[in-house]
Amino acid sequence: MSDLLPFFRAWVTDPKKVSAISPSSPALARLITSEVTANQTPVLELGPGTGVFTRALLDRGIRPDDLTLIEAGPQFSKLLADRYPGVRIVEMDASRLGNAQLFQPGSLSNAISGLPLLSMSPRKIMGILRGTFGYLREDGAFYQFTYGPRCPVPSAILSRLDLRATRIGTTVRNMPPSSVYKIERQNRATDRKSA
Ligand SMILES: C[S@@+](CC[C@H](N)C(=O)[O-])C[C@H]1O[C@@H](n2cnc3c(N)ncnc32)[C@H](O)[C@@H]1O
Repeated sequence: MSDLLPFFRAWVTDPKKVSAISPSSPALARLITSEVTANQTPVLELGPGTGVFTRALLDRGIRPDDLTLIEAGPQFSKLLADRYPGVRIVEMDASRLGNAQLFQPGSLSNAISGLPLLSMSPRKIMGILRGTFGYLREDGAFYQFTYGPRCPVPSAILSRLDLRATRIGTTVRNMPPSSVYKIERQNRATDRKSA
């Protein structure tokens, strides 16, 4: 119940930015973080909201100082800072990540995203993926959840950035039921070696 009120307040202030009427469920949080391991860091989380995915990442053994959260909503940023001391929280628009110099290029292990891509323009989605993949390692992955029937990143953007998307699972234990997509580089060095 304690997460419903801040979530509802943020939704009333800017429904398009929040794009959900309730926080994600622990089942969805377990699914979207299921391939993240404590020995693959640092980890970036985009659009954490009330921090349900953040909690799951910490439960998987990610240390607070190996975790960076990008959140545009000031109310959510404050709540996250109170709730997760030691985690780096950057209050900004995720589509500007490329200019933010948050990590060395190619040093990030994984990115987990709760961003409402379905209500964003292609230009914004492009900025988010281009910026994040600039930081990700060659074999790094971007995990995105969606309420929709297909990957929320348009296929034209995936092919322009030379990325591929694979659905890693669906859970009905979320309101509404949701799927998680893993987005990674089309031609990873590890794939080329084993081919
Ligand atoms: C669907 S909600 C997140 C749900 C989250 N998993 C939870 O349970 O609270 C989307 C979040 O993305 C944030 N957001 C939306 N657009 C953003 C942007 N351009 N940059 C950073 N954060 C953004 C919103 O403020 C909100 O916290």
